[in-house]
Amino acid sequence: MTRTRIRDFHDDDLDGIIRLFEAAVPESADTPPLYPLSEVLAACQRNQAVVAVRDEEIVGAAVGRAAHGQGVLVFFHVLDEVRVDPEQGTRAEAGLLDALERRLMPLGLGKLSMLIPAGTSACDGLVANGFETRSGLKYVERHLPVQRRELDRLKAVGGRILPRHLWDGVSGMQEEKDMLEDRLVVPLAEPDLADHFGVVPPRAVMLFGPPGTGKTTFAKAVASRLDWPFVEVFPSRLSGEPGGVAAGLRTTFEQINELEHAVVFIDEVEEIASKRGGEPPSPTQGVTNELLKQVAEFRDREGRLLVCATNFVRALDAAFLRHGRFDYVIPIGLPDATAREAIWSRYIPEHTIAGVDLEVLVHASDGLTPADIEYAARRASQEALASSLRQQQVDISSRTEVLSTDDYLEALRATRATVSEETAREFSEDVDSIARL
Ligand SMILES: Nc1ncnc2c1ncn2[C@@H]1O[C@H](COP(=O)(O)OP(=O)(O)OP(=O)(O)O)[C@@H](O)[C@H]1O
Ligand SMILES: [Mg+2]
Repeated sequence: MTRTRIRDFHDDDLDGIIRLFEAAVPESADTPPLYPLSEVLAACQRNQAVVAVRDEEIVGAAVGRAAHGQGVLVFFHVLDEVRVDPEQGTRAEAGLLDALERRLMPLGLGKLSMLIPAGTSACDGLVANGFETRSGLKYVERHLPVQRRELDRLKAVGGRILPRHLWDGVSGMQEEKDMLEDRLVVPLAEPDLADHFGVVPPRAVMLFGPPGTGKTTFAKAVASRLDWPFVEVFPSRLSGEPGGVAAGLRTTFEQINELEHAVVFIDEVEEIASKRGGEPPSPTQGVTNELLKQVAEFRDREGRLLVCATNFVRALDAAFLRHGRFDYVIPIGLPDATAREAIWSRYIPEHTIAGVDLEVLVHASDGLTPADIEYAARRASQEALASSLRQQQVDISSRTEVLSTDDYLEALRATRATVSEETAREFSEDVDSIARL
């Protein structure tokens, strides 16, 4: 049998490395390799690889990567057909590691390491050659939500990655949260699990409810929860496009369709999807038709969710809401007591909150939207500051309580509820007649 010899990697060895990689990491493996083939090949081409050759065939390789004073082995393998002879195998492994070390040492590396999946014997060859096993380590990794090649596309449509914890920031509204979690988040985040139960992940949903109840907040929270980019489409901004809003919508959706994942949000959708009909046809009719077409096409692809929001769900075109376009039509109503408490707590200064009777405020703000509560809280703060200034009593060094429950109650009396009784009644009629969960 011919001896195995070790030499530096040449460009012609790429095919051999690919075959070796396939032998080391069968496609059927349960977990994907830590370093994919593309990365191994890139490291080879950066001249940090050595190969073991027998009869002109590549039978082993050690591939390293150097960064910031440390070297990492991204691939190390000797074929079983060499290792059947323990002496040959050991010699090949030792030779490869030795040669790689010589290649990397001039780069000023202090350390060389390799991550090895538990339960494999790959580590024996390394330990036999001076590597030490480190215990008590855990390997963690995270897949970044947007890959580099997607960044430009995302920028073109004004999309962005939202902060990661928006979902937890939505206070109260447990019923709505549970429903969105079950219907949207889980099937989209875990399509295999959904498939197991025969659940088809949703493609498009409509949120409806009075102004300021948290529709936009929920749409963003869902994107944040899924770790998908959030793309808001503003139909009114498309009117300047050549061909008008309809053509603008088409182009925007074409660009969005190139993204791997996205939560696409259209707020106040009634502006472009109100009931059609009338002679002569209203100018938005062409836009509504285009939107219907785009929603239908949007539904063809996985990994995306369209969220539309409206304050006037009853004004929407019937064709728009029918089955097959929107999977769910979900009401978002006024905040419950827990949500109101959380919203109050967010706007009352920290050093003041202990002296405020939150329960009284929560009760007194029943029927108000989050935005109304925010207004009342800010108004109370403004008034308190103004009156302190008038009395020349401002001393910010002692962080005492500067606002009382009464200050907030007074501000509440001056706050007009956004949602009138009539709107609230209409909303509950819509929940009965239009909602689809
Ligand atoms: N459950 C909640 N917890 C905390 N803050 C909330 C909650 N819901 C809404 N808010 C806050 O209330 C304000 C209004 O919410 P948002 O803009 O989501 O309402 P909207 O339903 O989209 O309103 P519009 O119909 O006017 O578009 C925002 O400042 C938001 O942060
Ligand atoms: Mg909104």
